[in-house]
Amino acid sequence: MTEAGRRPLLQIIVASTRPGRVGEPIARWFAGYAREHEGFDVEIVDLAEVDLPMFAEPEHPRHGRYTLDTTKAFSATIARADAFAIVHPEYNHSFTAPLKNAMDHLNQEWSGKPVAVLGYGGVAAGARATEAVLPVLLGLRMVPVAGTVPIPFAGQRVSGEGDQRVFTPAPETETGAQAALDGLAGWLDTLGLRGLR
Ligand SMILES: Cc1cc2nc3c(=O)[nH]c(=O)nc-3n(C[C@H](O)[C@H](O)[C@H](O)COP(=O)(O)O)c2cc1C
Repeated sequence: MTEAGRRPLLQIIVASTRPGRVGEPIARWFAGYAREHEGFDVEIVDLAEVDLPMFAEPEHPRHGRYTLDTTKAFSATIARADAFAIVHPEYNHSFTAPLKNAMDHLNQEWSGKPVAVLGYGGVAAGARATEAVLPVLLGLRMVPVAGTVPIPFAGQRVSGEGDQRVFTPAPETETGAQAALDGLAGWLDTLGLRGLR
């Protein structure tokens, strides 16, 4: 539960890990957009930086009895979130292996928390990948907000170099992002998790 006086923490999960990924500037854009939205603290969780090994815990994660320091650290990170936004590309008609690996690592830490999904890709705008990720979220008893945010030809909307790359959204992407944030805030209210300022 969010104690009074603390704003709910929205973590933005960056699901692509390759050098030069457009997911990173998209996540930075969405983080800025979310910070303007009343009522969230915002943190980016970049799976490239988290750098989990392939899942190698002996017990089911629902027990929370982790053996690896990497899992323990990731558990502590995800446990402190109240809501999530997943920024993911489409790879071969699905979402990324690093995202599935990260989801599989934990259980209670994800459970019961609202989640917005922002998919991107080429002409298909990440839509097939988003459709594939939704059952995984439900399997973890997460609460996907209505309305996903598909971003077509995302790479064409990124300009600049290195850390300075900027994602410029289409108007409909901004509308979708706003709806996603409203959906997250609405679920936090419904779940009684919205902290008082
Ligand atoms: C391994 C791989 C598979 C891909 N498969 C698809 C695909 O099935 N459908 C699609 O629309 N785009 C596909 N793409 C294009 C990516 O969605 C697009 O390049 C996106 O920007 C990649 O995200 P990233 O830069 O954050 O890694 C693929 C790209 C890669 C690297």
